[in-house]
Amino acid sequence: MDQLDVLRILNLPSVVFGKFSCAPGTDAMPSALPGRANNEEGVMVMSVRTALITGGTSGIGKAAARTLHERGYRVAVTGHRQESVARAREELPDDVLVLQADARSLSDTDRVMSEVEARFGELTTLFLNAGVNHPMTLETWDEAGYDEVFAVNTKGVFFTLAKALPLLSDGASVIVTAGIGATRSLTGSCVAAGSHGAMLAMIPTLALELAPRRIRINAVSPGMTDTPMTRASIRTATEDVAGTMKAMAEHNPFGRLGTPEDVAGTVAFLASDDAAYITGQEIVVSGGAGLAI
Ligand SMILES: NC(=O)c1ccc[n+]([C@@H]2O[C@H](COP(=O)([O-])OP(=O)(O)OC[C@H]3O[C@@H](n4cnc5c(N)ncnc54)[C@H](OP(=O)(O)O)[C@@H]3O)[C@@H](O)[C@H]2O)c1
Repeated sequence: MDQLDVLRILNLPSVVFGKFSCAPGTDAMPSALPGRANNEEGVMVMSVRTALITGGTSGIGKAAARTLHERGYRVAVTGHRQESVARAREELPDDVLVLQADARSLSDTDRVMSEVEARFGELTTLFLNAGVNHPMTLETWDEAGYDEVFAVNTKGVFFTLAKALPLLSDGASVIVTAGIGATRSLTGSCVAAGSHGAMLAMIPTLALELAPRRIRINAVSPGMTDTPMTRASIRTATEDVAGTMKAMAEHNPFGRLGTPEDVAGTVAFLASDDAAYITGQEIVVSGGAGLAI
């Protein structure tokens, strides 16, 4: 009985175990990590890593664009509002591709994939981060806001991943921004929480769909993070944005709000080979917020 027979008996997919591997193009898992390839002499060489970040024109996504770029990635970002896209073009490094696209639109997403393919060929990292929050309660609901939140945060993520699939290299890393509110109570954020919770519910199934190509998918769930979205959300409830943020920081076990860079560092970890065996998981980046009962 050889190792393939053992795998068949255990009903496991064919994977690479040490020197044992199946030929490329068979049902085998890819033998190379993304961004790495064997040259003609069979020596492993580093090739360029590439990342597409949706919602990369502001806040967490923009910080992730900077972090990955600093680590040698070729980076493309999308954003929605004209002024925000223009600002990102000025502020991000010149060689970051900044595209204006609505995450709700499948035709915009097709265009993004064409432009990314033309520029990079393939993607080793996909950070699905575009998101909106329209704070509302059962008494202050807003139907258009509800629809937009689910269209961007849930539908947009699912279809961007589906459309990116042909571009993702074997062994690529997909990271989805969810949020601590998806599993804890946060007044006014019930709808955004639901949209992120829907993604958390999809991730285990997506992880197993992607596993045959050793593509990993994980969620990063920020706690309260100092971004334009957070400030705008607070502004809907009070004019004292600074005072409210200070109070929220004091309430955090680490005594501060998260920074976009805190989340970007976790994204870079999940994108890296250090996370090569992690899939289907959620990492909460909250300085301990949400742990108390
Ligand atoms: N900040 C927090 O405390 C916190 C906590 C938990 C989860 N999150 C989640 O983290 C993610 C990033 O949020 P952030 O705090 O960094 O907010 P942000 O600064 O407002 O950034 C949101 C990004 O999403 C983009 N976006 C919004 N609507 C879009 C659309 N229809 N099509 C394409 N892009 C769109 C924005 O593009 P433009 O600016 O170009 O329009 C922007 O780049 C969101 O999913 C958010 O729900 C944030």
